[in-house]
Amino acid sequence: MNNKKIIIAIDGHSSCGKSTVAKDLAKALAIAYVDTGAMYRSVTLYALRNNLINDGVVNEQALVAALDNIKITFNFNAELKKNETFMNGESVEAEIRAMQVSSNVSLVSAIGAIRRKLVDWQRQMGNEGSLVMDGRDIGTVVFPNADLKIFMTASDEVRAQRRFDELTAKGETVNFDDILFNVRERDRIDSTRAESPLRKADDALLLDNSNMTMDEQFQWILDKVNQIKNS
Ligand code: DC
Repeated sequence: MNNKKIIIAIDGHSSCGKSTVAKDLAKALAIAYVDTGAMYRSVTLYALRNNLINDGVVNEQALVAALDNIKITFNFNAELKKNETFMNGESVEAEIRAMQVSSNVSLVSAIGAIRRKLVDWQRQMGNEGSLVMDGRDIGTVVFPNADLKIFMTASDEVRAQRRFDELTAKGETVNFDDILFNVRERDRIDSTRAESPLRKADDALLLDNSNMTMDEQFQWILDKVNQIKNS
């Protein structure tokens, strides 16, 4: 294996396990991992806390103006053995995964001016060295020249069940049908928005993991990485 810089873009539908596999991959390759969904979620949390979302309408001007006051960073918590998202130094990891943020994040991520700013931040991270970045527009917009692009998906029901299990394990009281609705609604908004809609880049490899174990999908991706590293 050689040590040249490598950018791996993982895009796909919500709740299909992108971040789990992206994190494992980054760890195995000893390179950085960037969860861009966490960035959109953090901005959404900021908007909710500051009453910039009312009745499903985002106060776009005020939120865009506030972006300069928001600094999002990632840190590995050695004690908990997990990555944590920080907003202005505060760990927001738990709060950004709750239903209130999930239900509003598509509104925020559909705003062009917000996307442009976050894409800038993401490209700067890519300038710093090798990374695995997951999101919706990494292979199409953020890093169109990524060394490896993967587009992940799984059936709606499988994805809703995974999200249900995740939230239930955290003690949240949730309803399966609400989650299924949220998964489908986010896909719909993400895929039909005018700004950088979710779509598979022409040169991305499709990975449908509905019937795959975590290990199988990890190996599948690792094989592709090794092919690139050895080419
Ligand atoms: O991956 P996630 O579910 O944490 O992402 C949260 C939301 O953010 C999702 O509804 C789509 C949006 N998103 C986006 O528009 N672009 C990205 N690069 C990452 C996430």
